[in-house]
Amino acid sequence: RKEKTTYFRQAITQTPDFPKPGIVFEDIFPIFTSPPHHEALIRAYELQIKELGVGTPDVIVGLDARGFLIGPTLALRAGCKFVPVRKAGKLPGKLETVTYDKEYGADSFAIQTASIKPSDKVLVVDDLIATGGSAKAAGELVKKCGGQLLGYIFIIELTGLKGRDKLDAPVYTLIESQ
Ligand code: HPA
Repeated sequence: RKEKTTYFRQAITQTPDFPKPGIVFEDIFPIFTSPPHHEALIRAYELQIKELGVGTPDVIVGLDARGFLIGPTLALRAGCKFVPVRKAGKLPGKLETVTYDKEYGADSFAIQTASIKPSDKVLVVDDLIATGGSAKAAGELVKKCGGQLLGYIFIIELTGLKGRDKLDAPVYTLIESQ
């Protein structure tokens, strides 16, 4: 676990005062410029899913936008569905929607109602948990569709913001930051 943390930490850059003064911005994109880091990231998520001990999920839900970098690959490896949660106004058809507060303002999320079947076991993935607002909103959308929320997986947890306290399903993170 310690080695894993160091390995990913080396690839993730930290930029002070971006996008606002006082924020230290964690940029996970360098992971994707290094195939070994990219592969290790997907493996780490796969291992985490195995360790949940709840079997194969029926659905991986990825959050707009960086959850889309990880979710489809994981779903392919797990042999399950990938379903996007998108910012409002992007998805056609019958939707469930929810409004939430985030670190830099308010936003709305949507999911296609039929994309999750009642009683589907669902795992939500994103790159980073800050205040937990978007993750909580995604969990609400999963439940509105009738899905069973297994938990959440992130690369980075900004522990100082206590986002995990907002969530009522297990939270797994690969590395921690302040
Ligand atoms: N990096 C990326 N996204 C974020 C961050 C961050 O540090 N904080 C809130 N959203």
